[in-house]
Amino acid sequence: MYVCLCNAVSDKTIREVVRRYQPKSLQHLRQLVPVGKQCGKCIRAAREIMDEEMQHVPQYKEIA
Ligand code: FES
Repeated sequence: MYVCLCNAVSDKTIREVVRRYQPKSLQHLRQLVPVGKQCGKCIRAAREIMDEEMQHVPQYKEIA
């Protein structure tokens, strides 16, 4: 499903980026994928997906 129609960014792309880079903020996420760079309507959905996905990312201290 496309989250950002302006830049054709899907929820799958956001989830992959979050898992790989573990962005600490929406600003950081936006440096990694081009969400919210035009109309901005996707920002809220992108944040929700990022927050949801971060709950499933194991923290380093949990891995060790
Ligand atoms: S839908 Fe993402 S910037 Fe417009």
